[in-house]
Amino acid sequence: MTYPTDEEHPLLVLEDYRIGFNTERGLAKAVDGVSLTLKRGQTLGIVGESGSGKTVLNRGVIGLLAARNTVESGSAKFEGEELVGENRQAFWGTKMAMIFQDPMTSLNPVMKVGNQVMEPLRQHQKLSKSEAKKRVADIFTLVGIPEPIKRLDQYPHELSGGMRQRVMISIALAIEPDLLIADEPTTSLDVTVQKYILDLLTRVQKEQGMSMVLITHDLGVARGRADEILVMYGGRVMEHAPTEDLFEKMSHPYTSALFSSIPHLHHKKHTRLTPIPGTPPDIVEPPTGCRFAPRCTYAQEICLLESPPMTQEGNHRYACFFPIGIQQGQEALTTNQQRGHTASGLQIQKKAEAI
Ligand SMILES: Nc1ncnc2c1ncn2[C@@H]1O[C@H](COP(=O)(O)OP(=O)(O)OP(=O)(O)O)[C@@H](O)[C@H]1O
Ligand code: SF4
Ligand SMILES: [Mg+2]
Repeated sequence: MTYPTDEEHPLLVLEDYRIGFNTERGLAKAVDGVSLTLKRGQTLGIVGESGSGKTVLNRGVIGLLAARNTVESGSAKFEGEELVGENRQAFWGTKMAMIFQDPMTSLNPVMKVGNQVMEPLRQHQKLSKSEAKKRVADIFTLVGIPEPIKRLDQYPHELSGGMRQRVMISIALAIEPDLLIADEPTTSLDVTVQKYILDLLTRVQKEQGMSMVLITHDLGVARGRADEILVMYGGRVMEHAPTEDLFEKMSHPYTSALFSSIPHLHHKKHTRLTPIPGTPPDIVEPPTGCRFAPRCTYAQEICLLESPPMTQEGNHRYACFFPIGIQQGQEALTTNQQRGHTASGLQIQKKAEAI
């Protein structure tokens, strides 16, 4: 089967997309001007530390944020249709599905799991009860739930964490969505189950030609599975590139710091990790200039004053004044190493004097 991959008709296009939350201290700018394009059949990996806005971005697009204190602006188009300002229920359960970060709180504790998977099927695809039941049993088999018929009548508390996660995945896959958002789908699972689930999602994604957003802390996981990777920090895009390109020409100091700070599935047990110094930015009152400046070993004076514009080189883009891999970046790092600190005062190891 072939699927339309026409560049002119991408599945999802965000332009200057923003989500803020009204809080007592002011507007918390959780997503602050994100632009991206997701092509049909492609997987986009979104990576970033905790609090960088990955979940809010995706819950926002799919229309799952409580409207009361939420301010959404910019543009988000799904199949060419504007979502911002519109009710997204028509898409929810039919064209878009999300696997949530925490399966324990996303399943209904007092409803049999079979019914939880069947409900959207009966509602949106108008299947009879017996058709829906058969389909759910098939999906349970697909996602590796043993004794699927017996499981239909069980409640979430009767299942292990791994089985509950598979039920969540069944709910999402049952409707054969065009877009599947998988938010840290495996964080709560052990390594072998993680691999099984990720392999399964990749397989189904390829078979059904659906597009996938894979949210993960782990650049290593995104590397093996995503066509493109988008790196977020403080609600903004720091770097975005086709996966191979990102690793070949990693340009943003934050991407590099993130990569060095996170254990990867393929790391040996005792690999030394380098934590990123400091803490993520305050999203109510973010720092002037580059948001990463207080923690960046490359930071120069201009980084504290001005926000770096997005540089676009082919399909690779990054927001940094002193990117890694080019002379300006190398000089910035050397300057800081020689003075023993960055422009924001972050202490770094002095370079040993050449003899
Ligand atoms: N309802 C809300 N009101 C105010 N702030 C919120 C609300 N929901 C999320 N936030 C804030 O928005 C920011 C982004 O949160 P988000 O959950 O998207 O991060 P994340 O990248 O998914 O992190 P993690 O990796 O831990 O899941 C955080 O600072 C969070 O505290
Ligand atoms: S070099 Fe400057 S612009 Fe680039 S990430 Fe560091 S602080 Fe930001
Ligand atoms: Mg999250």
